[in-house]
Amino acid sequence: MTNNDEQLDQPLILTVAIIGGTGNLGPGLALRWTNAGYRVIIGSRQEEKAKATAKELNDKLDIETIQGMENRDAVKKANICVMTVIASAHQEVLESLKDDLQGKILIDTTARVDIQELKPPVAPSAARYAQDLLGPDVKVAAAFQNVPFHALLKDLDESLEMDVFIFADDPDTAKEAKMLAEAGGMDAYYAGDLDSALVAEGLTALLIAVNRRYKSKGGGIKLTGIEK
Ligand SMILES: NC(=O)c1ccc[n+]([C@@H]2O[C@H](COP(=O)([O-])OP(=O)(O)OC[C@H]3O[C@@H](n4cnc5c(N)ncnc54)[C@H](OP(=O)(O)O)[C@@H]3O)[C@@H](O)[C@H]2O)c1
Repeated sequence: MTNNDEQLDQPLILTVAIIGGTGNLGPGLALRWTNAGYRVIIGSRQEEKAKATAKELNDKLDIETIQGMENRDAVKKANICVMTVIASAHQEVLESLKDDLQGKILIDTTARVDIQELKPPVAPSAARYAQDLLGPDVKVAAAFQNVPFHALLKDLDESLEMDVFIFADDPDTAKEAKMLAEAGGMDAYYAGDLDSALVAEGLTALLIAVNRRYKSKGGGIKLTGIEK
């Protein structure tokens, strides 16, 4: 058997870069995707910060495979990039990574929420904005806006009683995002195109309001009655 044959026998391991993965949402996703067999890179504006978060996560799982890099380097090494930067830096970060993201899949988790007032954000959706800014050679999907990070960090080996709505113009890109959600232990539904992702951003505001009212941190959404 040649080296090439051996490589073909290996299952394809996808590399996921989590842009801004040092914050609240990134680590929970990183832990779950690592457990599911993905190679995960934590991205940050600062390499040292990315490495520190990667180390914390590796220590939690008793492994050494999660890497930490500057966002740009993380994106270059990945097949799939997941955008988890604070919503206010969405535009700035996309502009800075535009060239490196060409030819990749970008899954945008951004939910622009006004925590003072319960109302949906203004169109276009963050993901539509990303697609327009990045151009057609980046395949954008929106997902995970309604998954509170607290829930992701609990019981890593168990499925979450929480669903993910996937938005993408292209069904194949939606399929990639759905696979990632399922790998993370969540059910996922292809809900519409990138414009429709605005609805999920609004739902995040609703979830935050209800979680606050009931003094909860991990309340999410679970659909019933849909046969897949
Ligand atoms: N938190 C949740 O439960 C949750 C759930 C669903 C969706 N989301 C969405 O996920 C995204 C991230 O949320 P989060 O709570 O994880 O945010 P966060 O912890 O406040 O910030 C995430 C990361 O953004 C980077 N960042 C901060 N300021 C920046 C700037 N000026 N320029 C570039 N990068 C900057 C930081 O990374 P570095 O300093 O390392 O660069 C930070 O660790 C948001 O769009 C949010 O709507 C969050």
